[in-house]
Amino acid sequence: MAPLLDTFRRPLRNLRLSVTDRCNLRCAYCMPEEEYAWLPRGDVLTFEEIVRLVDVFTGLGVERVRLTGGEPLARRDLPELLRLLARRPALRDIALTTNGTLLAEQAGALRAAGLHRVTVSLDTLDPERFRRLTRRASHGQVLEGIAAARAAGFAALKLDTVVLRGTNDDELVPLLEYARSIGAELRYIEYMDVGGATRWSPEQVVSRREILDRLAARYGPIDAVHDDSSAPADLFRLPDGLVFGIISSTTQPFCATCDRSRLTADGHWFLCLYARDGLDLRALLRGGADDAAIRDAIAAAWRARTDRGAEDRLALHQRGPMASLADLRADPRLEMHTRGG
Ligand code: GTP
Ligand code: 5AD
Ligand code: SF4
Repeated sequence: MAPLLDTFRRPLRNLRLSVTDRCNLRCAYCMPEEEYAWLPRGDVLTFEEIVRLVDVFTGLGVERVRLTGGEPLARRDLPELLRLLARRPALRDIALTTNGTLLAEQAGALRAAGLHRVTVSLDTLDPERFRRLTRRASHGQVLEGIAAARAAGFAALKLDTVVLRGTNDDELVPLLEYARSIGAELRYIEYMDVGGATRWSPEQVVSRREILDRLAARYGPIDAVHDDSSAPADLFRLPDGLVFGIISSTTQPFCATCDRSRLTADGHWFLCLYARDGLDLRALLRGGADDAAIRDAIAAAWRARTDRGAEDRLALHQRGPMASLADLRADPRLEMHTRGG
């Protein structure tokens, strides 16, 4: 099958499935507000609807899916969805991004259901700082969740750290040493001006350059690890051999190789993290469209894709949050926690 290519010849290979917009944390970089407008429950796709769409997507070249949220483990019976996905041989890779709070109780069932890989968000090793950053006192649960994921034997465990100046940028080394101690791969993420990040300011961004300089001052020269994957993280190696990643969407975006798209819990398909609008696949599904019609709509949208959202942001003279509070209230699908972090 000839690959489906967009206007920049980027293939469609990765699909991020947000299974719920709800979250049980309130991370300052993602959900800083007191109140949110949630997607109506009746609009949320059933597992059968999700799987039907996944089958159409795999028919167009998608071979990797990642479950996201909100917090995906807050979606009831998630292992059932994984069992359905694991039966699809076209899916080479089934991954999950979670905040870890509910992982201890679910890790075994997720693994047994066919999940391949887990990424846990971990921004600090300090419980009190965690409470301030997330407005919830669940740091202990997250560490237990990470331990449970290790015990369950997932192929790869990654830790994601959003680095915020003045909040957790004094923990670059301790977090890396923690990752080393448990055999996980740590990825530092630049703070992004995405929808929902209403408190974003350029001063709080710690760039990839600065992260590397600070780590080099502690560990010595750092080498880039070259790979040709389309993954957002660039990999690096310390002189002692430890490998870690940096996701530099803010200062050095990687749109040129972006093969990903994302489906919201209510069935809107976005071609870019920064896109204003998505394609309403739920309307097609529930309006009685057959698979061929859905497939044609998806293929036409991908062929016309011109998105380079993070590069467009970088080109702005003055940068601030992508969406205002009023924008977010009017359209919750602009939120990072709705379109899948
Ligand atoms: P693998 O490469 O499969 O391990 O996963 P991943 O790194 O894509 O997944 P993860 O959910 O851990 O993503 C980490 C972070 O990368 C996200 O939380 C975002 O901050 C950022 N990110 C993910 N997808 C995109 C994207 O499409 N565009 C940009 N600019 N950033 C992204
Ligand atoms: N900047 C960078 N990453 C973000 N995430 C959410 N909001 C932001 C932001 N403003 C990502 C983080 C987090 C995941 C759930 O979503 O990686 O760990
Ligand atoms: Fe892809 Fe858009 Fe992210 Fe760029 S900003 S990497 S085009 S999703």
